[in-house]
Amino acid sequence: MTAEVPVLTLDGAGATGKGTLGLRLADWLGWHFLDSGAFYRALALCALEAGLKPGDERRLVSLAESMELSFKTRDGSARVFLGTREVTAKLRREEVGRAASINAAQPTVRAALLETQRTFLRPPGLVADGRDMGTVVFPRAPLKFYLTASQEQRTLRRHHQLKEMGLDASMAHIGSALSERDQRDGTRTAAPMRPAPDAIFINTTELGRDEVFACAERWVRRRFQVPATEESGAGT
Ligand code: DC
Repeated sequence: MTAEVPVLTLDGAGATGKGTLGLRLADWLGWHFLDSGAFYRALALCALEAGLKPGDERRLVSLAESMELSFKTRDGSARVFLGTREVTAKLRREEVGRAASINAAQPTVRAALLETQRTFLRPPGLVADGRDMGTVVFPRAPLKFYLTASQEQRTLRRHHQLKEMGLDASMAHIGSALSERDQRDGTRTAAPMRPAPDAIFINTTELGRDEVFACAERWVRRRFQVPATEESGAGT
């Protein structure tokens, strides 16, 4: 019998700190990292560039099936490519995120991306970040986190992230875009954003990056029997 490849899932709304935590956990464990939001964002970018009408499900599915998406992780940050073109910054744009959320509500689009996401599950292990990682894509994952944070804190974080990437938007605009997205992602019928019944909640509102990591790290060590002597990189 072959041993199962370990997988850890991170779900929750945007700007709750999933990406930062996920990349750091993957780096510490030496596991692969799946940014499933990038799949939906990349598809949205392809669709916007191709001038697809919203709701053109048939062409969206065909784009999803032919899209050549790849990732490179360096120094704790992930770069995303479509073919040979780097699209990392483009994917962070609000219009792309909004279109990603709209397209992601279509069950056929989700089905077209499902198996490719599962191919990321390879030895030695996987950290999977998204909205439905613990509920639909990897429902048997032995460790699932669900991250939350106050609306105010998320708005501040997203504003900071956009600034770092040279993009700008008002706090009011960011706040309403996040709420609109939460509403759509959380109420769709296909794989809505919600915690798996066995998910562990981490409220990151009052926590710094190291504290969020330390909290997750304790669970990871226990669940996957990572030796306590190993360097965690948590900085404490
Ligand atoms: O995590 P993100 O902001 O990059 O995701 C962009 C959108 O993609 C999000 O609003 C909903 C969709 N998405 C999804 O439906 N399922 C996932 N597993 C990841 C993202």
